[in-house]
Amino acid sequence: MAFYYKLGEIPHKRHTQFRQPDGSLYAEQLVGTLGFSGVSSLLYHINPPTKINRIDEPVPFKPKVAEGIKLAPHHLRTLQVETTGTDYLDARKTVLLNNDVDISICNPSEREMNYYYKNAASDEVVFVHDGSGDLLTQMGRIPFKPGDYLVIPRTVIHKFRFDEGQVRLLIVESHSPIETPRRYRNHFGQLLEHSPFCERDMRPPIELITETEKGEYRVQIKKEGYLHQYYYEFSPFDAVGWDGYFFPYAFSIYDFEPITGRIHQPPPVHQTFEAHNFVICSFVPRLFDYHPLAIPAPYNHSNVDSDEVLYYVEGDFMSRKGVDRASFTVHPGGIPHGPHPGTVEASIGKKETHEYAVMIDTFKPLHLTEYAVNLMDKNYPMSWSEHHGTNGPRPADMMD
Ligand SMILES: [Fe+2]
Repeated sequence: MAFYYKLGEIPHKRHTQFRQPDGSLYAEQLVGTLGFSGVSSLLYHINPPTKINRIDEPVPFKPKVAEGIKLAPHHLRTLQVETTGTDYLDARKTVLLNNDVDISICNPSEREMNYYYKNAASDEVVFVHDGSGDLLTQMGRIPFKPGDYLVIPRTVIHKFRFDEGQVRLLIVESHSPIETPRRYRNHFGQLLEHSPFCERDMRPPIELITETEKGEYRVQIKKEGYLHQYYYEFSPFDAVGWDGYFFPYAFSIYDFEPITGRIHQPPPVHQTFEAHNFVICSFVPRLFDYHPLAIPAPYNHSNVDSDEVLYYVEGDFMSRKGVDRASFTVHPGGIPHGPHPGTVEASIGKKETHEYAVMIDTFKPLHLTEYAVNLMDKNYPMSWSEHHGTNGPRPADMMD
């Protein structure tokens, strides 16, 4: 995140003596990106972060891409999937992927992880659809609730603690850094006045977790299709302080301020994050277009250069046949899409929408996984045809 933040105790000068109550030195660790040219943070540990007890055999952890899938719009239903597994990593089921991003659902039943997790290669954005609790990280605790995007930069060691109740997560794993849209930032990195959110909406960690007991601490490290099994002598949660620009944070979809206009606004007005070759957008309740002849429903469009994924969070689409919350629609580049029959006329005069959705648009084609094939609504590609009937608008009708 491109602003400075500080938590806990740090010495006056970086790279100088900073001593513990017993007189020993704290172990300083620089976590930096892009060599030494990107954002970084300096952490101060009670114990060096390098004390590996042992490394067990790596566990394969790679989704299988489905072969022979037709080029077509897809609708994936996930609402009926109450749990996808017991613990957080076991429950992570990837539905779509390409060389830039993996998109997964994750509905774990276990409340607390008995290990620590680090993604060594990718940033993760965890969108909390259902559930609340704490994201515990080596840089502190972030309480979360439904509607939060939890942005966890690569290498940040963390674990989740979920409250009682259904947990339903959408996880976007980005193989390049997750950033706010560049056009919303000034030369200094500050978010500008026309940005739909600002630094005040970003919630960094609020308190450090300091575990000091010697023991055996398991850290599962995801990299290159494996979970690498590391056991450390000391807990990774032993920082007494840190400062810098590199840290996890939460941002709520409920804090996204929509941009509206007299005529239909294009999808980039909903953009929330960007990374190499894809964007993440937030569709939130907003006033519809107010030109006297405006058509609130979007026009048909051809995604010449992108695949378009919508994940339905909350709103009117719940009452529509065949469309649930937690559904995905996937509209691949090369095939035009638009409103269902009757929707354009029906939208005229509508003043506002109350729907929430998360959109992920990629510049490179996405591939469905074998897991996703089981969630497919086979009739969706034909749902624009009068012959097949749609029983009312379908999810993408008013979104984009
Ligand atoms: Fe679209």
